[in-house]
Amino acid sequence: MTEAILMTEASPIPAAKLHLPDAQTVTAVQHWTDRLFSFRVTRPQSLRFRSGEFVMIGLMGDNGKPLLRAYSIASPAWDDELEFYSIKVPDGPLTSKLQHIQVGDEIILRSKPVGTLVHDALLPGKRLWFLATGTGLAPFASLMREPETYEKYDQVIMMHTCREVAELEYGKRLVEGLKDDPLIGELVADKLIYYPTTTREPFHHMGRVTDNLSSGKVFADLGLPPMNPAEDRAMVCGSLAFNVDVKAILEGFGLREGANSEPQEFVVEKAFVGDGI
Ligand SMILES: Cc1cc2nc3c(=O)[nH]c(=O)nc-3n(C[C@H](O)[C@H](O)[C@H](O)COP(=O)(O)OP(=O)(O)OC[C@H]3O[C@@H](n4cnc5c(N)ncnc54)[C@H](O)[C@@H]3O)c2cc1C
Ligand SMILES: NC(=O)c1ccc[n+]([C@@H]2O[C@H](COP(=O)([O-])OP(=O)(O)OC[C@H]3O[C@@H](n4cnc5c(N)ncnc54)[C@H](OP(=O)(O)O)[C@@H]3O)[C@@H](O)[C@H]2O)c1
Repeated sequence: MTEAILMTEASPIPAAKLHLPDAQTVTAVQHWTDRLFSFRVTRPQSLRFRSGEFVMIGLMGDNGKPLLRAYSIASPAWDDELEFYSIKVPDGPLTSKLQHIQVGDEIILRSKPVGTLVHDALLPGKRLWFLATGTGLAPFASLMREPETYEKYDQVIMMHTCREVAELEYGKRLVEGLKDDPLIGELVADKLIYYPTTTREPFHHMGRVTDNLSSGKVFADLGLPPMNPAEDRAMVCGSLAFNVDVKAILEGFGLREGANSEPQEFVVEKAFVGDGI
């Protein structure tokens, strides 16, 4: 465990509670960098979702009204709790406060899951590519822990790119832990290929997802054929610029964008709205 990581395990919940609407209790918080943290909360018994979907979560604002933002559920549909992987925007209305939550605190969670990064939105295929930058990893943290992912595909490739090595740590730990997972460890063993890269700090694999796809480097590195619509499916989650650029590349390989209502060969979802912090 690196020094940057602080972990707080579940402790008795304080007697004084805020009684927020749709309140869920924080059970664990882990800080990965000064810009990234993850946390777990209790799961409402009534919440049913498909791995890869997102919900609205938040805190009570200073004006007494809920301050909510979209968040991908990073835990799989079978998990008893819910996990989230979050940015810390220094002056962000929600995350400037959310980054200080501790075990026993309450957050607001609206139980209406939605999203396009779901298995139902893709036609059957041989290989499934998860393409993400930054916190765009979150829906794939769910889908990488979902048995259906490995039942439906022969190979699953997780490409995750961040500026710096430390920003890859959450995904790295998650992937390492999967092999020992009693539920899906055996399913994952030979099927999941993890391909993390950085763009602004030296690392054993570098470069943007887009460049590594366009140049064919990732296919050469992994011994896979170039993407083709007969065999390959993809799910994309990053900034708007990333999504636009990846979409053009996937279409260049002959893949078509799908949706819940019309499954095709790839699907896209924004990891956040806006140009940058
Ligand atoms: C469908 C969907 C799913 C999302 N899932 C997640 C998730 O799982 N984890 C998560 O951290 N955020 C996620 N977001 C973004 C999230 O909704 C908030 O924008 C984020 O929590 C910041 O909230 P804020 O109020 O502090 O700042 P905001 O006012 O919401 O954002 C301020 C600015 O910060 C930047 N920003 C916001 N979120 C991010 C981010 N995740 N990475 C990099 N820059 C960002 C943008 O430039 C934005 O304009 C998702 C957004 C959408 C639309
Ligand atoms: N990450 C940090 O350390 C940091 C610190 C302070 C502030 N910020 C600000 O926070 C905002 C979000 O930063 P972020 O690092 O989470 O997200 P980001 O800027 O979207 O970068 C995340 C990764 O995606 C890559 N990328 C960006 N646009 C792409 C595109 N069109 N196609 C393919 N790959 C693309 C980046 O490569 P490139 O490196 O080649 O762009 C980087 O590796 C930015 O506005 C940034 O200025 C970031």
